[in-house]
Amino acid sequence: MVAWRSIVLAGSALALLAACGPKKEAPPPEEKGFAAVDTKRIETASAGAEWLTYGGTYDEQRHSSLTAINKDNVDQLGVAWTFDLATNRGVEVTPIVVDGVMYVTSAWSVVYALDAKTGAELWEHDPDVDRAVGVNACCDVVNRGVAVYDGKIYVGVIDGRLQALDAKTGDLVWETVTVDQSKPYTITGAPRVVNGKVLIGNGGAELGVRGYLTAYDAETGDKVWRFYTVPNPAKQPDGEASDAAFEKIGNVTWGDEGAWVTDGGGGTVWDSIVYDEVNDQIIFGVGNGSPWNRTFRDPSGGDNLFLSSIVAVDVNTGEYKWHFQTTPGDNWDYTATQTIILADLPLGENGASRRVAMQAPKNGFFYVLDAATGEFISGDAYGPMTWATGLDENGRPIEVAAARYGKVPVSQLPGPLGAHNWHPMAYDPDLALAYIPAQEIPQAYAEDPRFQTKATAWNTGADFAAGVPPVATPEIAKFLRSTLKGRLIAWDPVAQAPRWSVEHDNAWNGGVLSTAGGLVFQGKLNGDFVAYDAATGDKLWSQNVKSGAGAGPGTYMIDGEQYVTIATGWGSAFALVAGYAYDNSVQSTVGKVVTFKLGATGEIPDADLPLIEKTPKAASFGTEAQIAEGVVDFSRNCAVCHGALGVSSGVLPDLRWSAITADPEAWKGVVLGGHFAVNGMVSFEEYLSENDVESIRAYVLAQAQAAASESAGQ
Ligand code: HEC
Repeated sequence: MVAWRSIVLAGSALALLAACGPKKEAPPPEEKGFAAVDTKRIETASAGAEWLTYGGTYDEQRHSSLTAINKDNVDQLGVAWTFDLATNRGVEVTPIVVDGVMYVTSAWSVVYALDAKTGAELWEHDPDVDRAVGVNACCDVVNRGVAVYDGKIYVGVIDGRLQALDAKTGDLVWETVTVDQSKPYTITGAPRVVNGKVLIGNGGAELGVRGYLTAYDAETGDKVWRFYTVPNPAKQPDGEASDAAFEKIGNVTWGDEGAWVTDGGGGTVWDSIVYDEVNDQIIFGVGNGSPWNRTFRDPSGGDNLFLSSIVAVDVNTGEYKWHFQTTPGDNWDYTATQTIILADLPLGENGASRRVAMQAPKNGFFYVLDAATGEFISGDAYGPMTWATGLDENGRPIEVAAARYGKVPVSQLPGPLGAHNWHPMAYDPDLALAYIPAQEIPQAYAEDPRFQTKATAWNTGADFAAGVPPVATPEIAKFLRSTLKGRLIAWDPVAQAPRWSVEHDNAWNGGVLSTAGGLVFQGKLNGDFVAYDAATGDKLWSQNVKSGAGAGPGTYMIDGEQYVTIATGWGSAFALVAGYAYDNSVQSTVGKVVTFKLGATGEIPDADLPLIEKTPKAASFGTEAQIAEGVVDFSRNCAVCHGALGVSSGVLPDLRWSAITADPEAWKGVVLGGHFAVNGMVSFEEYLSENDVESIRAYVLAQAQAAASESAGQ
């Protein structure tokens, strides 16, 4: 406890120091328009001097027309400025740059406005989130960014609020609660704004919610329309835009029983939302089923629309236009929320151009759909998979029978973290290449024999304890580490084949930026930020940014100089759950915006924080049976935050080295008494008994001793 506390304290001291450093001159506000953005301005911008929406433009290609930084001079890139995001949690934001100001978010949905040229802070807005809601966040308390429109900044807050801030001052203009806050909804995604409407979805399908996308009036915050992605549990109309779609097609794909009736069924719209200006429609990606396991969710065995689908609706009314379901009857957490990119491809008659929507969802297939109709044009696997053998002529996956797992664990690719996750994909229209941040993270799926819905707990119906050994030797962790792979794939969507790819030495690497300078930028898990030749994949430049580099990079131009920027931070779903994937945990409180330009020579400050002493703080105890109980309770309740096998990557405390393991009363005080609830470690009293909690302590100490004896033996 002492070590962890001192890290947190040292972190805030550092942030203070940074704030007291030499003051950079902020530009006079009157010279700035402060986000006077409308739909026309976003439509006519080409991700050149400015970066106006989450994906750069409405098409979300993340391709910049800037060429000042290019293949010939990229080796002269250096650090222009850094800005401390004052967090030890994950950072997934793509900065928006407009009128010389950068708008960026940190963990817990905190928003900053910075001078994009110098990094000087103009204002900060903290929505003051109750840290206890962190327990609802499946995948860390991250935020992927803001939207700008008509002098306002829009941010989705992790607790389900949507806020509009004054772009000039950061003052709150309006706020609306977009979810039932008694349910485990969260918001991590960036809003989008089109024609005076702010679009926002939510997350929570791991725990049990009913997904939807809502449009709010950008000026007032009044609700305009809502589209549910899962039918009303009574199959009655909701009085919302989605009613007609369910009457027509959706209701019959669900049975009348199963956990979906009480849990909501999932289908959360937690990331991709694009505006198709040609067809005046919103195209959005829908998440996984809740619970994951369809046997429990809907025993009737239907396709469960619109889970894991790409859906198009009218921008003004939310009226259904078309859908394409990537994974019918989702059983594996195969979301279709990944980046959706709109582009024109020569796929029409005689090579005529055809407007398409492209996606590389978690399930491992790359899809090209007709943007106007949703018609399946083509699809193919972009990485190894064991769950399906291909797609039929309608784009429906041809499943391997064993993939619909029973009680015996089946190791499968992709796993629930996907062949591609939230890390933004990019598309270079000149080279006609999509750049996919792909990965291999296998998972043993098994039915949870003890499944029953528990409010606000994880409800997947899949058993996270299946196949986990009572005491995992470090060899087992090493073996698991060896199964992880990452690659950057330059995918030709016309040929449905890779043109080149780069192998990474770990999974969960960063989002991608492509530029007309012939470059592709991508961060890696180990902190390397790399520029590749967009045509060949040759590595041209690299700098370590001293923290996880997972977010989507951006670029912009001010006073004739081009900047490349990336927000860094250690955390997010994989870093929390898969501590075994890292040889050394990364130090805390290192989230930053790091901005580069040609010829700059700045330094990225070191975190310089004390490291935790990696020694067991008590002897192991307990019978084999007790430890075996501990593995089950730990895997089901603790692993998603403190790491599978008890191995943490350093985002949240590694319980093996916690001083609290030495004191059963203090341990109970934290785990059942909720003593650290204000920091996000809520009480598990509703789900665990004193005996369970003691078994978890026995397991954690057994893991600590196993790791310690390994290092002593070396
Ligand atoms: C939703 C994420 C989450 C889950 C799930 C979770 N924890 Fe935590 N835990 C945290 C956070 C955040 C902290 C750090 C709190 C702080 O800084 O005070 C923490 C801290 C702790 C600490 C204090 C460690 C120290 O040395 O300071 C203990 C003990 C602990 N957790 C045990 C557990 C156990 C046991 C479980 C499963 C029953 C569990 N946690 C599940 C988020 C989680």
